[in-house]
Amino acid sequence: MKKILIATGGGDCPGLNAVIRAITKAAKRSKEWEVWGSIEAFNGILKYPPEIVKLTRKKTAGIHVRGGTILKTTNKGNPLAYPVQQEDGSWTTIDRSDELIDNIRKLGIDAVINIGGDGSQRISQALFEKGLPIIGVPKTIDNDLSATDLTFGFSTAVQIATDAFDKLVSTAESHHRVMILEVMGRDAGWIALHTAIAGGAEVCLIPEIPFHIDKIMEKILKRYHKGRGFANIVIAEGAKPAGGEVIGEKAHDIGDPHVKLGGVGNFLRWKLEENNCPAQVRTTILGHVQRGGTPIAFDRILATGMGVKAFEMARDGQFGQMVTFRNNNIESVPITEAISQYKYLDPNHYLIKTARSVGISFGD
Ligand code: F6P
Repeated sequence: MKKILIATGGGDCPGLNAVIRAITKAAKRSKEWEVWGSIEAFNGILKYPPEIVKLTRKKTAGIHVRGGTILKTTNKGNPLAYPVQQEDGSWTTIDRSDELIDNIRKLGIDAVINIGGDGSQRISQALFEKGLPIIGVPKTIDNDLSATDLTFGFSTAVQIATDAFDKLVSTAESHHRVMILEVMGRDAGWIALHTAIAGGAEVCLIPEIPFHIDKIMEKILKRYHKGRGFANIVIAEGAKPAGGEVIGEKAHDIGDPHVKLGGVGNFLRWKLEENNCPAQVRTTILGHVQRGGTPIAFDRILATGMGVKAFEMARDGQFGQMVTFRNNNIESVPITEAISQYKYLDPNHYLIKTARSVGISFGD
């Protein structure tokens, strides 16, 4: 029997389990492959003895409905910059990629499938260049990976944000308030834009279009021109005022280089209050709720399609490639293409035009 090893790395996202199940089912049907999972991204392979699990039909039955990942994950498992504590208690990073590749070979693994976002696919490419037979499957709620039209988990996050938005509309209306909903998305406005259109926001603020407080105030004042009104704003965590900076905490976790974004919703509330907003303003920061729970049907289907494709690519030896969803079809592209650029929202994207045409202001 040939062996596939699956790892899930980086932040979790609804649909990961559906990919794991699809790979396992497709492999089982081939009768020539068995599937193993590394616990907590590649950390499982770097443990002695390795922490890996054989993925059987029984272990993966019904998991497509569950959020999270049965293999667990971490954003501190980069084998090329692995965090280690030194004798004096301080932390540093070391390159353990050769050890990782060696351990994978000793386990008799023929193909590795790495399910992860931008950071994880950069690791896939580096390991591929060192000779590891690896395939990438894109994953992120942010939808910010180029070379794929959509990532699974994104549509679920948009649904969760839209459900939250709808709830905020009814309370905004009864209190005549301005409600701000801060959503995730890192440096791209995909979740915010989709939520704003689906929910019917008055204002949508995204990283790609820096905002001006006076423009937002103009929109709000129009909503209150008869005295009483209400307004709902969606703001992406990576949005920033024109000439200003994104709001977040500097990365301080060794092994996790990310800045923790968050708080721009409160910044906006203070600014609106400072500018004599005619109503009370409240902010909701949705946070990790967007990443949890059951994937919606669309994401289960997309994730299943990507899992089956990843198995076929492993079977056919298409290494150094990543699964993609393009033009309503599942295909593959070189991982280098997927990581070559960040997928920002183009300000001329048809959905931005759509949003403007139904009266949504971008604060510009
Ligand atoms: O990339 C997914 C994401 O949820 C972003 O939207 C968010 O900025 C970040 O991860 C949060 O990361 P963490 O879970 O490490 O706080």
